[in-house]
Amino acid sequence: MIASEDIQKVEKLIKLSDSEPLIPEEFIPWHIEERSEEKFMPDHLVSLEGHALYDQLTALQKRELARYEVAQVMHSYAWSEGLACHFFNSHLLKLSPTSLEYRYLIKETIEEFRHQDMFAKMIRKLDVEPARPSWTHKVLSSMHVRIFPPSILFMSVLAIELVTDVYGKKIRQDDTVFEPLRKVSELHHIEEGRHIHYTKLWLKHYTENAGFVKRTFYGFIVMANILFMRTMYVRKRTFQKIGAKEVALYTRCARENLKKKFGENCLNSAIALVDSFDGFNFITKPLWRTFLNAKV
Ligand SMILES: [Fe+2]
Ligand SMILES: [Fe+2]
Repeated sequence: MIASEDIQKVEKLIKLSDSEPLIPEEFIPWHIEERSEEKFMPDHLVSLEGHALYDQLTALQKRELARYEVAQVMHSYAWSEGLACHFFNSHLLKLSPTSLEYRYLIKETIEEFRHQDMFAKMIRKLDVEPARPSWTHKVLSSMHVRIFPPSILFMSVLAIELVTDVYGKKIRQDDTVFEPLRKVSELHHIEEGRHIHYTKLWLKHYTENAGFVKRTFYGFIVMANILFMRTMYVRKRTFQKIGAKEVALYTRCARENLKKKFGENCLNSAIALVDSFDGFNFITKPLWRTFLNAKV
């Protein structure tokens, strides 16, 4: 539901999708092969970096850790975008093809499918078989998509887009990262910026007049989605693949270390979103601090 004063803004977004589509086949230099001095992620994004155990890995193991982890992160994006498309499709069935909402959402759905295809191709180029989402992730996500109304699902999509965009921005800005990966991040960053803009306009109607209970619930939903996403990044399989000696220990420490770093460096835009609808209070603040290590 778009406020009347925002109609022109959405028309502009539709025009941009039409006039400047970003096609992964053309935008990404897929032919470029990796060089041994190139990285797969900026060091500070690697889960274990900053922990004492990271220093015990060889240079090659550190490089491979970034390879498996960036593939895992992209698989997490693609999988959650698949869920978003599942919701978009069922929402589109309820709309008239002449409505503004339909006209934008069908563009966004097409772009999200292109992103999933692009991430899958990049994962294959990295020669990684990522770990699949856990049973808990599968059950929670299918319940989520089935039981919640569109306002909550759009809030979930927005929360995930905001955190994926943090990694995208940092990867594309680091010149030492493998170029095709930087271009994947650049494409995603540009189009996600448009999606985020649209979703904020769409949600304004729901958040502007929301009472205490709704604002609390929206604040909880943003937190839960970020937690859902972050917990898909660090997997046991990654440490098995790089030949870590104590896989369980490395996995546990990497999860704890990422939680700490993620809370300090990756939550600014999500916190600003929750602040914008006054969603932080005595219920949501302790949850954000406990589960996300957020400074709120
Ligand atoms: Fe996307
Ligand atoms: Fe998106």
